[in-house]
Amino acid sequence: MRTMVKHTLYARSECVCRETESCTQPHKESALSRGASRAEGEPRGRTSRKTAPFLSWAGGKQRLVPYLVQFLPSDISGLIYHELFLGAGSLFFAVQPETAFLSDANAHLIDCFVAVRDHPDLVSRYLSSHRKQDSKGHYCAVRDSYNTGRGSAAQAARFIYLNKTCFNGIFRVNQKGEFNVPYGRDTRAKKDLVLPSRESLRNASQALSGASLSAVSYEKAVGSPGKNDFYYLDPPYPPLNGTSYFTH
Ligand SMILES: C[S@@+](CC[C@H](N)C(=O)[O-])C[C@H]1O[C@@H](n2cnc3c(N)ncnc32)[C@H](O)[C@@H]1O
Repeated sequence: MRTMVKHTLYARSECVCRETESCTQPHKESALSRGASRAEGEPRGRTSRKTAPFLSWAGGKQRLVPYLVQFLPSDISGLIYHELFLGAGSLFFAVQPETAFLSDANAHLIDCFVAVRDHPDLVSRYLSSHRKQDSKGHYCAVRDSYNTGRGSAAQAARFIYLNKTCFNGIFRVNQKGEFNVPYGRDTRAKKDLVLPSRESLRNASQALSGASLSAVSYEKAVGSPGKNDFYYLDPPYPPLNGTSYFTH
């Protein structure tokens, strides 16, 4: 059984007791603990609000989060969080750092994150329309529109819809830079279409509110780490052989 633990994320000079009602010592509300009462073993984020990644990404670490968080510094409220291979941002959403620099070489992905951060309700409205129309024909029409569209809330909703309905959730473009993955809802393990709700997009937007997002390769994003920087690096696996499906 999990026990609720409060007051564990405060700066060292403040009380770190686990009492919630009897303690009279000052309890500083740190950025990471704001509004939070964290279950033991849960990520040390700035809020206890659960925010799952809104994309399904190849190599995503959502299921490994409970393991990964054990290796985080016990209090990262004073640290600047950097994630250079963002993907779906599994660890980022678990931690929800106050200040973050997030990047990925995939500009389509970063454009989508920017739109969700800045216009979650609009993205959600467009997504609802895709939810209602979902079919193979609709998928092909959305894919065509995606390949001629540009960064915007409508484009982000298309990206999320394609991500959730394409074959195996993979992202692949042809030599012209066009997304060309076939429809995959008929072959995916989860038959029900699960698109992120408005609430989950709002939560993601809130989590991203202090994040700078850049579509750059890790060599450019890495900068010169100082003692207040925390880096999480989850690069892609190298291709197994010369004919592997994916190139990175
Ligand atoms: C294993 S995935 C990251 C998954 C992520 N940690 C998650 O939990 O969803 C690797 C990511 O690295 C990105 N990537 C590939 N080459 C890159 C590069 N040279 N610089 C930055 N990002 C790159 C890919 O676009 C992909 O999103």
